Amino acid sequence: MSLYALGDLHLHFQSELKNPSQLYDKLWKDHEHKFKANCAKCIKEDDTLVLVGDHSWGRNLTECEEDLRYIMDLPGRKILLRGNHDMFWDAKRTDRLNDFFENRLHFLQNNYYSYEDYALVGTKGYCFEGPFYLDAYGHIIGWDEANASHAEKLVGREIDRLRISFEKAWDDGFRKFIMFLHYPPTNVLQRSSAFTRMAEEYEVEQVIYAHCHGESRFHDSLMGKKRGVRYSLVSGDYLRWNPMRVLT
Ligand SMILES: [Fe+2]
Ligand SMILES: [Fe+2]
Repeated sequence: MSLYALGDLHLHFQSELKNPSQLYDKLWKDHEHKFKANCAKCIKEDDTLVLVGDHSWGRNLTECEEDLRYIMDLPGRKILLRGNHDMFWDAKRTDRLNDFFENRLHFLQNNYYSYEDYALVGTKGYCFEGPFYLDAYGHIIGWDEANASHAEKLVGREIDRLRISFEKAWDDGFRKFIMFLHYPPTNVLQRSSAFTRMAEEYEVEQVIYAHCHGESRFHDSLMGKKRGVRYSLVSGDYLRWNPMRVLT
């Protein structure tokens, strides 16, 4: 039994493609076929695959039907996290999605899933992405204050959701955690955040995140072991569409 993760599939079987470079970019061209073939090679039916958000360009469930069917047809148990582009997923109605896709897809928000003696917890997350102001030498000398204070509110809301996920698992007796975020745990300037502090508070073993795609963004946030927590970026193009094995 193994646990795998990958994010940012940005499927578009039905919906109008918002990023045309997906059609031409060497890494993105036919990425859904590459990913499916890679999953078939390594994921077995008793494995778990966590898809770390930005599943589809569709604006509602009807426009995502084929994308979600593609995900359902992948091997193993599929757990989905909400990304910033997942318009089909009303944050207040995750239970409805879980009822509708019962036994086929599992939606992670304000709940948790178990994997052996681990609890898989998570939320979309958020981090302030600027704009940052640079001096003539390219050093950051400031940022948009209004955007930063709005970001703080969004971070607060996501932290509340994440704590609900942790507390439900904790109340059920779990003491080992893998934490999933769609957004990176910090922005480009930070080395700690409300999300890294929560990971440390619950002594999380690993934080898995996505959202940073395109080569220039691969190193926007934490990677490797920091203060006892291992951080991994699993955006699909970064992984060349090979799901990362998180636990065996
Ligand atoms: Fe994305
Ligand atoms: Fe994203």
